[in-house]
Amino acid sequence: MHCIRKRSVISLLTLFIAGASFSFGAGADIQAPVVSGGDSALVLAHPEIYHAGWIDLNRNGVRDPYEDPAVPIEGRINDLLARMTREERIGQLYQLQMKEETPARDAALIGAGGIGSYLGAAPAPGLRNRIQRIAVEDSRLGIPLIFGFDTIHGFRTVFPIPLALSCAWAPDLLERTQAFAAAESAGAGVDWVFAPMVDIARDPRWGRIAEGSGEDPWLGAKMAAASVRGLQGSQPDQAGRVAACLKHYVGYGAAEGGSDYNTTEIGLPTLRNIYLPPFRAGVEAGAATVMSAFNCLNGVPASANRFTLTHVLRDEWRFGGFVVSDWSAVGELIHHGYAADKAQAAEFALRAGVDMEMVSDCYPSCLPGLLEKGIVAGDVLDTAVRRVLRVKLARGLFERPYATAVSVDSAAGASLAREAVARACVLLKNDRGTLPLAKAGSIALIGPLAADRHNLLGCWYGLGRDEDAVTLQEGLAAAFSGARITTVAGCDLTGGDRSGFDGAVAAAGQADVVIAALGEPSIYSGENSSRSSLDLPGVQTDLFKAVAATGKPVVTVLFAGRPLAVPEVVERSAAVLMAWHPGLQAGNGIADILSGKAGPSGRLTATFPRSIGQVPVHYNHLPTGRTLHPYRDGPRAPLFPFGYGLTYTHFSYGPTRLSAPSIDRAGMLTVTATLTNDGPRAGIEVVQLYLRAYACSAGPRPVRELKGFQRVCLAPGETREVSFTLAANELGCWSPDGVWLVEPGRFAAVVAPDSASGAPVDFVLER
Ligand code: NOJ
Repeated sequence: MHCIRKRSVISLLTLFIAGASFSFGAGADIQAPVVSGGDSALVLAHPEIYHAGWIDLNRNGVRDPYEDPAVPIEGRINDLLARMTREERIGQLYQLQMKEETPARDAALIGAGGIGSYLGAAPAPGLRNRIQRIAVEDSRLGIPLIFGFDTIHGFRTVFPIPLALSCAWAPDLLERTQAFAAAESAGAGVDWVFAPMVDIARDPRWGRIAEGSGEDPWLGAKMAAASVRGLQGSQPDQAGRVAACLKHYVGYGAAEGGSDYNTTEIGLPTLRNIYLPPFRAGVEAGAATVMSAFNCLNGVPASANRFTLTHVLRDEWRFGGFVVSDWSAVGELIHHGYAADKAQAAEFALRAGVDMEMVSDCYPSCLPGLLEKGIVAGDVLDTAVRRVLRVKLARGLFERPYATAVSVDSAAGASLAREAVARACVLLKNDRGTLPLAKAGSIALIGPLAADRHNLLGCWYGLGRDEDAVTLQEGLAAAFSGARITTVAGCDLTGGDRSGFDGAVAAAGQADVVIAALGEPSIYSGENSSRSSLDLPGVQTDLFKAVAATGKPVVTVLFAGRPLAVPEVVERSAAVLMAWHPGLQAGNGIADILSGKAGPSGRLTATFPRSIGQVPVHYNHLPTGRTLHPYRDGPRAPLFPFGYGLTYTHFSYGPTRLSAPSIDRAGMLTVTATLTNDGPRAGIEVVQLYLRAYACSAGPRPVRELKGFQRVCLAPGETREVSFTLAANELGCWSPDGVWLVEPGRFAAVVAPDSASGAPVDFVLER
């Protein structure tokens, strides 16, 4: 075919208008963090991408309907699909890893339209555009590739891990961090990020608890929607934003024994009410894609699970984007003992609803034969191809196939990251007002994380660099400029060497206060990083004890990707701050809290067990027929419950009051408590609303369910009435077959500082 190629710069405005005709669902827009220059601006794009704007709307001298942005997207898909060969269709469903050698190695594959997407280990716009050029200029139909990357908690500017960010109980903050990460990613040639991870996690042994928003489905749903809004913006093709991917669908967090990739068995009521809601919220927020998980769910691998992938996702939720498998998850159907060979793996995955295969090659190698033999019908293939094309068209990739330069205000990113660190920290203990620390005096900064950089970054640090991380030592030095700070590691993170203990004890003995920087290496959480214990690795607990034995007050700052079971450390510390893996601005954000420049306002989104034997332990467990007794060798109550966190002041709650003892099906209930700041400082309280449904014919409901929260800032001595309004419809739950059930009966509501406090008050939902 004779192609006429035009290089023209298309005005962005034109493209916005053209692209606006299709949406996967739009959330509220927020300001894109993209600036045009300035001293602090970091131009992420490779010079080569200034060729952006290359466009070929006229490949055969005629603008075909699929090339015409004025044609509605479904019309463009119909036109394009009709022109595609079987091999080109299958190609759209295949994704490989992008490597330096890709342009040479895969030129023939790309030129033949045999691949639809690449994922990058380290995305580079120049490389991406070279690969894209082969697809756009050298393939018969010029269908652009879509480039994905794991931007999870930041790209170049690394924010706190997602579990930490969820502890800020601030969807707006998450939206801002994700918008910033999207801008940085887009500037490096990323169209699509494999985030947010919205897996509910109830087991801190599972290392991927770090990547999600904790154990609660209601809060998880709010965070999922906020993350999608931040990544995608309000339009599917918005400049400086990226397509989102909800993962890992579904039940991945329920891995047996907390072992990553392990089998999951989740009863339907729990699947519907605990694991599915964040995915549903993400779909409703307009997420362009979903990733099918590695795990086997109730006897059927999640990447071949027709019930979850088609019945729930498509038929019930009307999801219009595409599903990509997790890495080799289609090929792994054979390891699962589900598919006998690659052909069956391709057949089962595609028919179940996996549209794109990541890395394994069952689709390209076996679908031609399966189609010829009639084992897979042509319309099953076409449905998957349509979904992939729909996302590519909606994202404007046909009009803007090349990465465009995006300037990102790195100073704004650093300040956002610093704010996020401070807001993600959870104050777990503060005896006799140990914190905030007085300005002057001497500080012994002890522990393997005192001056460490790399382990601050967390499990998915993208293109973040160790040298940009602000250590705790540096943060403290800046915040306490008048103080004498002596830093001694004392031991390393995981080893058994105690030779540094004496130096640590000596430093502690000479200081007014000890800050113990203890925790896990970042490699202990994230993918394939499960743990069989939840204590401090190596000899850190012994170091802590040696230092605490000096009698000096110890402020323990814990760095981890999961809840830790450290009752002894908590018991013997004067104050404990959970800092998680905070990202690049770690030292500054933590010092803001320790110095009192910022008040702690984080609350736990995952229960902290007292011992590993309590796991799984989560606040929203089901009631039982008989009272659960303490273990013979320990209590049942966790170390810290979901929702827990202290401030630098003290808040008192009056009793929960209801607007009426009963409501009807059209009614509204107002639940109120009087909140008083009776402490010495201003502070932010995260006021939480929990509900209990005493009986439900679709299966018992949890003893408590979060239904709302408000962040309330009060001056010392100030009192405020804090009210929540619940519609009768919010009292329902999902039935096993996916119907929202609101049953009359007895309920209770409580306004409380955490999931274990407060006295619930009963009310009735009338018939
Ligand atoms: C495997 C991980 O499970 C998933 O979260 C990630 O997005 C893909 N690999 C791609 O890197």
